[in-house]
Amino acid sequence: MTTAFTLAATDGAARAGTVHTAHGQFETPAFMPVGTKATVKLLHPDEVRALGAQVILGNAYHLHFRPGEDVIEDLGGLHAFSGWDGPILTDSGGFQIFSLRDTLLAVDDDGVTFRSVYDGAPERLTPEDVCEIQRRLGSDIAMCLDICSPARAPRAELEEAARRTLRWAERQVDAPRAPGQLRFGIAQGGIDPELRRRSIEDVVALGFDGNALGGLAVGESREEMLETVAWSAPLLPADRPRYFMGLGDTDGILGVVAAGIDMFDCVLPTRTARTGSALTASGRINLRNARFARDPRPLEEGCDCPACARFSRAYIRHLVNQQEALGLRLLSLHNLTFVHRLTAGARAAITRGEFAVYRAAALERLAAGPQ
Ligand code: GUN
Ligand code: ZN
Repeated sequence: MTTAFTLAATDGAARAGTVHTAHGQFETPAFMPVGTKATVKLLHPDEVRALGAQVILGNAYHLHFRPGEDVIEDLGGLHAFSGWDGPILTDSGGFQIFSLRDTLLAVDDDGVTFRSVYDGAPERLTPEDVCEIQRRLGSDIAMCLDICSPARAPRAELEEAARRTLRWAERQVDAPRAPGQLRFGIAQGGIDPELRRRSIEDVVALGFDGNALGGLAVGESREEMLETVAWSAPLLPADRPRYFMGLGDTDGILGVVAAGIDMFDCVLPTRTARTGSALTASGRINLRNARFARDPRPLEEGCDCPACARFSRAYIRHLVNQQEALGLRLLSLHNLTFVHRLTAGARAAITRGEFAVYRAAALERLAAGPQ
């Protein structure tokens, strides 16, 4: 395997680098917009690219059920099928299977049985199955099937989940891959220091191309999450990408970047948009609020996104209230632009050796509250 990661600069524990994949490279810190069903909801891939995304995320669980990896493979793989020709990371479904608890039927050392969210039909998946799905999808980075426990799960449950996650990782590290496909391991263990440390050491020892922290930002407090990532991210090998799974708010992103995380993803920017809210440097604003009815300002002063370039809050509020698709599209474009500006700014600050100043200034603006 050629080097998947090159480091350009460090600033304290924070890093700026580049991840190299079979479909091109992306700069880190990198936010990955979520395209669960082979689409970043409401947006054309050219729009996603134009707003600054260099890598997007798909989900093996969802694509397995609809339309099926066989269909996508027949159509030339996930890139050709979806019209996104840049890097794609596919999550394994570990989060979906284990967070939708009422659809979980049985877990054993060999695999997991659950009901499909689409039609309730029972389905059995082993770690090898999930590798094979991702091989056929042809994603650039394939995540291991893991067991994501809720933060407050009893210690015995966290321990068993971490143990199974490791057994499964051992079976996935050398499983067949698409050409040039990278595979990342996932450490679990919740916020329990001993379980988390052991899970990291065990998964890292298997030698994956990159490593992820899973099972965080799943119900523990922000302080607990930041404390855990602060000591655990540096345990991940420095010469490979480090991925924090499922995080997309300003405070969280800056916190994990400070700890040395390179990649993160979240539905937050796009999901928030679809509920009619905009992310700004001074916090979230809900366009349904009557105070925006005659507000001539853009969603965010100085933003260069397609929404802020031309439209007022008042107009976008009108579109949202009338359930016009353009309103939610404009909010999606703005929210993703906002997160990409935040991470591009973090990268630039790391390169200048000023990340701490950048983070403090961003948190101060956020604390000031919406304008
Ligand atoms: N997305 C957010 N958290 C997790 C996790 O723990 N595992 C997986 N596979 N995906 C995630
Ligand atoms: Zn904007």
